[in-house]
Amino acid sequence: MKKAEALLREAPICSLLGITWPVLQAGMGQVAYGDLVGEVSAAGGLGVLGAGYMSGDELRGEIRKVRARTGRPFGVDILFGQVQSDDQGSQRYSQRVEDQIEASLDERVPVLISGLGNPSGVIPRAHALGIKIMSVVGNARQARQVVADGVDAVIASGAEGGGHVGRVGTATLVPMVVDAVAAIRKVPVIAGGGLADGRGLAAAFALGACGAWMGTRFIATREARGHDHYKNRIVAIDEEGTVVTRGHSGKPCRLIRNRFTEYWEAHPEQIQPFPKQMVEVGEPATLRGRLEGDIENGVLPAGQSSGLIHGVIGAGDVVAQVVAEAIDTFERLGVGF
Ligand SMILES: Cc1cc2nc3c(=O)[nH]c(=O)nc-3n(C[C@H](O)[C@H](O)[C@H](O)COP(=O)(O)O)c2cc1C
Repeated sequence: MKKAEALLREAPICSLLGITWPVLQAGMGQVAYGDLVGEVSAAGGLGVLGAGYMSGDELRGEIRKVRARTGRPFGVDILFGQVQSDDQGSQRYSQRVEDQIEASLDERVPVLISGLGNPSGVIPRAHALGIKIMSVVGNARQARQVVADGVDAVIASGAEGGGHVGRVGTATLVPMVVDAVAAIRKVPVIAGGGLADGRGLAAAFALGACGAWMGTRFIATREARGHDHYKNRIVAIDEEGTVVTRGHSGKPCRLIRNRFTEYWEAHPEQIQPFPKQMVEVGEPATLRGRLEGDIENGVLPAGQSSGLIHGVIGAGDVVAQVVAEAIDTFERLGVGF
């Protein structure tokens, strides 16, 4: 085996999760359903269901769809940040999140990912069932917190990415998180945000991570759920075609620039706090944009890496291409010789 290839196959995240390649398809609400996830996992990466908009029953159906396609590991991404207050005023996960957790634990999914918020309430139960837990973080403080809470791996996703983002760019965030985590416990760090090809995967390794978490690249695939207008818009725009807005959910979220983002840029005083803005504005606009194909008035999350994406292809081909390009990149740099 070529040494550059071994570097990828022997990445700590591969042995932790039982995957062949350290290419993780990001959990994306309304996009990452069973067809996409099954295809990515079958190709040796980690497919991840974006549970965000699903009921517990819908999630169970998608989990079964993945299992009908492949016996390989896959994940479920839950937005743990959707909390509600009970009668005593203390906060707990919303009913939808509770239903998604129950479905994931019942189905013994191999990997559970917290896309937003704190998953600490679930970690002991998940671990008792043999389920690995990973958390997406946007700064070193969050990374220290989730590692202290007991997660098995951390995903450091930078501000270039699509969907909800932090303020720190990937090239700074990843080594900051690698150092912060190393001071507490040895857990793999995965890099995300702005990575869409094999050069991005190789760069993730150079920054101290051992894998890449890619969202936008996998939207422009045949198996992703979403209107062709949305996928084609990602192919059409360049690296300047997205903007961060609170208009979708009340939290900063990177979307393709259109009439929807321009409206909220002009009327920031009308934006309600998370999750009210998301329930009342973002969710209906999401359906308009991603499922009905209204690319001017809908919510179309995508990252700056749209500029690197030049076609809608099969998700398994994305995994294979990213791996081949990363090997070429390592060889070009003389890594592994
Ligand atoms: C359409 C879309 C939906 C997303 N939905 C979620 C989500 O439900 N949960 C989550 O953790 N992250 C979500 N994200 C963020 C991704 O998980 C990931 O962090 C990001 O896409 C990585 O950057 P990239 O888009 O540059 O690859 C979403 C991103 C996109 C583009």
